[in-house]
Amino acid sequence: MAFKRIDGRKNSDLRPITAKIGVIPNADGSALFAFGNTIAIAAVYGPRLLHPQHMQDPETGILRVNYDLLSFSVNDRKKPGPSRRSQEISKVTEWALSPVLDLKEFPNTVIDVQIYIIQADAGTRTAGINAASMALAHAGIPMRNLVCSVAVGKQDKEIVVDLTKAEEDFDGGEGPTDFPLAKIANTDQYTLLQLDGKIPAERVSEVLTIADQAFANIYEAQKKALKEEFS
Ligand code: CDP
Repeated sequence: MAFKRIDGRKNSDLRPITAKIGVIPNADGSALFAFGNTIAIAAVYGPRLLHPQHMQDPETGILRVNYDLLSFSVNDRKKPGPSRRSQEISKVTEWALSPVLDLKEFPNTVIDVQIYIIQADAGTRTAGINAASMALAHAGIPMRNLVCSVAVGKQDKEIVVDLTKAEEDFDGGEGPTDFPLAKIANTDQYTLLQLDGKIPAERVSEVLTIADQAFANIYEAQKKALKEEFS
């Protein structure tokens, strides 16, 4: 029988994207980005002087990301507060976004990015990176380009994009595979490559090809939301 995804999507189909700018009025920049039922909001504050003062760097500003899942964003209530997982995701999100920012323009300062996942159905770090990238642009932080992010995985030996939690949990015999990526739009520069599970080396180009199609759609949605805001 031909392979079919749980929700009937083609291997290269993203879930419906929602992209909105300006969802948090008090922030310097904010955005919402959703892949289907995975909804991330991001708020940017700064650049502002970093405290305590001894942490200031006269050579550069710093980007400080805080990612969190709201307690009832997942089926099992998530205990409030930081965890190893949220610390890891905050750190990889900083690394994914920093290459597009020239932080040397803002010595002694911090740019705070708060990412909240208000509903989770897999792919939250990638939705968070997309939202944060838009929120940084909305805050007027000079950027080389937007960063686009998506997760690729395997289902029944097929390479598929933007997996739901049900898909992520499905074990097609080779174990679940989650391969989140981020790329600077219109470049060949990846800023996030993480692999949980197994993808044979000879299939990595298939992963990059399917991710590239997704990046193009994500970039269009991000740009459209920003254009609507600024027009
Ligand atoms: O969300 P992402 O795929 O970037 O990271 P993950 O750590 O691989 O988590 C996969 C999914 O597991 C999340 O998107 C949530 O849907 C779910 N999850 C959960 O149900 N409870 C948690 N405490 C953490 C994650």
